[in-house]
Amino acid sequence: MLKGLIFDMDGVLTRTDRYHLAAWEQLAKSIGIELPANANEYLKGRSRLDSLNYILEQAPAVHYTATQKDELCARKNTLYQKLTADMTPADILPGIYTLLTAAKAQGLRLGVASASQNAPRLLAKLELLDSFDAITDPATLSASKPDPAIYNQTAKLLGLSSGEVMSFEDAASGIESIKAAHQFAVGIGSAEELVGADVIVPNTAALDLIMLTVQFDANIS
Ligand code: G6P
Ligand code: MG
Repeated sequence: MLKGLIFDMDGVLTRTDRYHLAAWEQLAKSIGIELPANANEYLKGRSRLDSLNYILEQAPAVHYTATQKDELCARKNTLYQKLTADMTPADILPGIYTLLTAAKAQGLRLGVASASQNAPRLLAKLELLDSFDAITDPATLSASKPDPAIYNQTAKLLGLSSGEVMSFEDAASGIESIKAAHQFAVGIGSAEELVGADVIVPNTAALDLIMLTVQFDANIS
């Protein structure tokens, strides 16, 4: 029986995925690297350091020390925080508030499984901090998406088993993480990208709790 919903944040609750990409593009340019056209497909859902390593691989001849990488990550985060400074509840993606309200009315428990260390800060700006029963701190985990750790940990914090939750993602690495945690995966975006999702909707406006619950129940039985 469905007892909880777990959400990725960037690209699911709010449109911050575009700001992550813009900040990485600026940082890459400042060190003479141009991102490949499909970079965002890889970067979505990846931790800050995994993202930086992917960018630095585009110029393999140059070697960066761990300290230099820390500095580059900090610079990207400063750029990102500037881009997201003025976010408000108007930046919650269409359909999300309605979904959260319907889920709460049904007594479902709600969690956030975001790889972003900025999640609490942004959820506060969106005035969504109090809407969730659990927000996993990615710094407490040994591995990042596509590893299942973040979805396992969030279900655990909610006090629910993997078969009792439905999880939402916009990134291929996130769907992989959900499925590795043996949870029901709702992909938001394109079917070509979100391979392995149990249900795919084109955008958050298409999320409907009744439709999703029917699919969840059909999958269990
Ligand atoms: C999310 C985003 C990624 C981002 C990661 C870490 O998973 O989809 O693009 O790199 O969080 O975010 P942070 O705010 O900690 O740099
Ligand atoms: Mg995402």
